[in-house]
Amino acid sequence: MKTYTVTELLKQDTNSLHEVEVKGWVRTFRANRFIALNDGSTLNNIQCVVDFETMDDAVLKRITTGAAVHIIGELTESQGKGQSVEIQVSKITVLGDSDPEAYPIQPKKHSFEFLRENAHLRTRTSTFSAVMRLRSTLSFAIHKYFNENGFYYMHTPIITGSDAEGAGEMFRVSALDAKNPPLTEDGAVDYKEDFFGKETNLTVSGQLEAETYAMSLGKVYTFGPTFRAENSNTSRHLAEFWMIEPEVAFMDLDGNMDLAEDFMKYVLKYVLDNNQEDLEFLNDRLLQEEKTKPQAERSEMSLIEKIKFVVDNNFKRVSYTEAIDILRNSKPNKKKKFKYLIEEWGADLQSEHERFLVEKHFKCPVILFDYPANIKAFYMRLNEDGKTVRAMDILFPGIGEMVGGSQREERLDVLKEKMAALDIDEKELWWYLDLRKYGTAVHSGFGLGFERLVMFATGMSNIRDVIPYPRTPQNAEF
Ligand code: 4AD
Ligand code: MG
Repeated sequence: MKTYTVTELLKQDTNSLHEVEVKGWVRTFRANRFIALNDGSTLNNIQCVVDFETMDDAVLKRITTGAAVHIIGELTESQGKGQSVEIQVSKITVLGDSDPEAYPIQPKKHSFEFLRENAHLRTRTSTFSAVMRLRSTLSFAIHKYFNENGFYYMHTPIITGSDAEGAGEMFRVSALDAKNPPLTEDGAVDYKEDFFGKETNLTVSGQLEAETYAMSLGKVYTFGPTFRAENSNTSRHLAEFWMIEPEVAFMDLDGNMDLAEDFMKYVLKYVLDNNQEDLEFLNDRLLQEEKTKPQAERSEMSLIEKIKFVVDNNFKRVSYTEAIDILRNSKPNKKKKFKYLIEEWGADLQSEHERFLVEKHFKCPVILFDYPANIKAFYMRLNEDGKTVRAMDILFPGIGEMVGGSQREERLDVLKEKMAALDIDEKELWWYLDLRKYGTAVHSGFGLGFERLVMFATGMSNIRDVIPYPRTPQNAEF
């Protein structure tokens, strides 16, 4: 007898299978007769019908929500509604009991806050199991896309000795005795004595190393964890998040925009095609949630409609300068509704401005490009105007910034000038400068925040609910 997963069983017809075995966790046990069994392989439960007259009372009592059970029985056509097949149980073994009074995941609606505190068990719920299956599919689709398009997967280091990227505050990695660190003559901590003989941190991005590989392997991407110690306690920031960073030699910013758009459409289409059940469940969940909101705040599109819209429509490409004009003349700016009013060219865009552009003005994903040089990183290629750089940000409705990328400065003299102006030590980035000395060429890439993509694809509104164990200020539980 073979042990099947629930998803396999639900696809069987009763003519081909008789005796089956399945293992899973009890979701509910109704009328001493109907077990809804789930094993995580699918959103759906399989109904297992117990004959309580022949079943040992002691065993019956142990069939409680959350218990792990091993079931043997006959797969039959279901008499009840909502499922095509069910199992007539001939033998049930309780593998692991679950105290029904104490088990946190009761068969009722729990708040996401409560479930975050029980993140080790929250994937026993339909919502979180659907989200995490979608997360898995998305990450598979990402590798599939790059593999099909001739990219090599590259593992950039997690521990880094350079903090020059300036993408955010870093977490220090040290093996020194925190209570009694070695000191230099002037009283500072002497990192020469530390494990690596220098100051090291957790990486904020794999980009600079990915550039070195793009300049030899041509097309590469990284997909790994990144760490930022910024104290932003928002629904879109994590201290530990996963980032996808492709980097391509001989590609300019236009190519970079094309790549990002094609890539995002591909992975979103992939989940539409491969995770229908989970998406439909999350779609319905959101529709229910929307009904509790006032009419004016309700979304015009359902989750699935939003994903389809992105897959089927071009992203709008708008220069920073055009965006500033739109924002300066916008209602919320004129009526002083923005917290940060847009007065002149050069202003950094806040999330309220980004959201206005994508949600109110364009109503579609927007690629903003050619930002002022002084609000962007040192490595971005300076335009002929001398004041803007070949940067791009991709903004999504409901999410804000999803992607940040650029064409990289490939000219040694311009890059050195920029570093000098920003006080970045050339010695620290000698290897990065070498790329501009030996066979330099136009190249570009971008970084996509994986969790923000998962938020968009699942309709979850808090980033803490799309990663198994969120790391945020004051929280590293589990
Ligand atoms: O815009 P960022 O900082 O870009 C870079 O790090 C570049 N080195 C990428 C590159 O060109 N290779 O970050 C890229 C994306 C953001 O657009 C956002 O989606 C996500 O990473 N991100 C975060 N996601 C969750 N929590 C945070 N604290 C994030 N910070 C950035
Ligand atoms: Mg950015």
